[in-house]
Amino acid sequence: MEISKVGVVGAGLMGHGIAQVSAQAGYGVVLCDIDQGCLDSGLGKIEKQLSRAVEKERIEQETADAVRGRIDGTVDQQDLSDVDLVIEAITEDLELKRSFYGDLDGIVKDDAIFASNTSSLSIIDLATATQRAERFVGMHFFNPAQVMPLVEVIRAVTTSDEAFQTALDYAKGLDGKVVVPTPDKAGYIVNRLLVPYMLDAVRAYEEGVGSIESIDAAMKAGAGHPMGPITLLDFVGLDTTQAIAEIMFSEFRERRFAPPPTLRKLVSAGWYGKKSGKGFYDYSGDKPVAVDLSV
Ligand code: 3HC
Repeated sequence: MEISKVGVVGAGLMGHGIAQVSAQAGYGVVLCDIDQGCLDSGLGKIEKQLSRAVEKERIEQETADAVRGRIDGTVDQQDLSDVDLVIEAITEDLELKRSFYGDLDGIVKDDAIFASNTSSLSIIDLATATQRAERFVGMHFFNPAQVMPLVEVIRAVTTSDEAFQTALDYAKGLDGKVVVPTPDKAGYIVNRLLVPYMLDAVRAYEEGVGSIESIDAAMKAGAGHPMGPITLLDFVGLDTTQAIAEIMFSEFRERRFAPPPTLRKLVSAGWYGKKSGKGFYDYSGDKPVAVDLSV
């Protein structure tokens, strides 16, 4: 199937980046969010990234204008009726996503493909909320989607060869992307390995192995990671990481996937990491400062 118009649902951390890379690849994009504020914020971030690319002389102003011109923002899901592919990037919650897909199925044309950017849910559990389980895949991008090359493309037991190939071709067509097909097992490849690593860093902190800063500094300098594991947790979002951990824990029942108490405590406090201004670090000043969690 030929993809020319793409719907991206959810204009948050992941959705706005997916919309931008899709528009950069030449696709017409409908970026949809139920919240006007979130939509405006996502579109603003895209405009900022494009301006930065122009300032750095990586693209011409007219290219930036053309990319922005290919993205239409909307809060009305009916505007997704004629897209060929929908990439959903809403909150990581099974019931919420199933309900969303049930509604969307009646709006979007029958031959369109649905792709979830879920980080960990089984694709089959989402596909069965629709009448198009054979045209349903996972397409997992990484944060920031404009920068991180990987896209995991996930095939459910019901996914047809044609839909899977179309999704693979679409992801391969995005500039600089590395595409890895993965089976439909919770967490796929990256989160199955990365999430226990981040959770273990919190456990190491809880057990007094090191301070927040020293654990981050050690893993950056000693293992060559671009960010330490606790900074990465704040970057991914503590609420998102907790949701992923819960999903993998309920799937595999292994301690390594269980969210540690400190993570739960911060999520309960509403400290979701960088996006909310505070997590393991406080982002209100010039530089992030580790929060005193000794109380
Ligand atoms: N959006 C768009 N572009 C961004 C960006 C963002 N949020 N953050 C950084 N960039 C771009 C910058 O514009 C810059 O591009 P330029 O050099 O062409 O101007 C480039 O990335 C480098 O940025 P900086 O110089 O500001 O900072 P760094 O060199 O420290 O790089 C980073 C930032 C790319 C985020 C790097 O720290 C990194 O790779 N961190 C690890 C990220 C990671 O592991 N992501 C995966 C998380 S797991 C996940 O997403 C799965 C999910 O399911 C949980």
